[in-house]
Amino acid sequence: MNGKVIAVMNEKGGVGKSATATTLAYLLARRGKRTALIDFDGQGHSSIIYGVNNINKLEVTINTLLRKIMEDKPLPELDSYILKHESGVEVIPSNSQLFTLERNLCNVDFRERILSQYVDTIRDRYQYVIIDCMPQMGTPMINVMMCADSIIVPTQAELLSTQGLAELLRHYQIIRKNSNHNLRIEGILITMDSPNTIVSAQVRQLIERGFAGAVPIFKTHIPRSIKVAEAVLYHKTICEFMPNNPAAQAYEKFVDELLGNEETEVCAVG
Ligand SMILES: Nc1ncnc2c1ncn2[C@@H]1O[C@H](COP(=O)(O)OP(=O)(O)O)[C@@H](O)[C@H]1O
Ligand SMILES: [Mg+2]
Repeated sequence: MNGKVIAVMNEKGGVGKSATATTLAYLLARRGKRTALIDFDGQGHSSIIYGVNNINKLEVTINTLLRKIMEDKPLPELDSYILKHESGVEVIPSNSQLFTLERNLCNVDFRERILSQYVDTIRDRYQYVIIDCMPQMGTPMINVMMCADSIIVPTQAELLSTQGLAELLRHYQIIRKNSNHNLRIEGILITMDSPNTIVSAQVRQLIERGFAGAVPIFKTHIPRSIKVAEAVLYHKTICEFMPNNPAAQAYEKFVDELLGNEETEVCAVG
């Protein structure tokens, strides 16, 4: 087994990356896929949603693991630190120490491949490794693009939210051309949508026009629902907290679409 690495990425904060990464991991696990979730943001939102009460008390985090690789020290056994959630998702947590990563990477050889080196040590245990990214570009994000197979880009259904996409796309194209030739953009996922509003239609048009042909857009949109934020208070994804909620059902459809696209690709190749 050589797990597929899917990064949930957008350099803007508050666009639904963590909601999407945590819910995607949850639904994949529920569909019987062996799934790991790497929390790659110092805010630790994925870790919190998966039950960590105090992220600053964590002993092993993605940051401490990457430090070991940078210092050429052995990694602890995966089973000694991975958080096994009852849903089946296995979480590599994070806390604010990850904010030092960019600076720590400065003086390291092959600094763009540190995360790849780590992911290579766990990838054969899983069918999917989902990465919940931090909200800025820079060397840590280059690390993600070097080890991911594909990227999902959540974008809030507001006009200003589409602005960072061009920068992300530029990095993606450079990395795809020069290093990780197999990297793909799975699609832009419109989140916090208010269906049938003018702004929602305009955002879709803007994205379609701006990225026509270059980037697919998921047909499924995730509607705005206050229950998504409420679920976090209970350390849950919306699909666990309230499976009949429209946002939960949209996430189910989104995962159908994602897995359906994968099958189409396999058929096209095979
Ligand atoms: N579909 C949604 N409807 C309403 N609120 C949402 C939705 N998706 C996410 N949120 C909330 O919006 C905030 C930002 O979302 P989050 O997933 O943390 O974004 P990011 O990881 O991109 O910073 C959080 O409070 C989250 O609970
Ligand atoms: Mg987040």
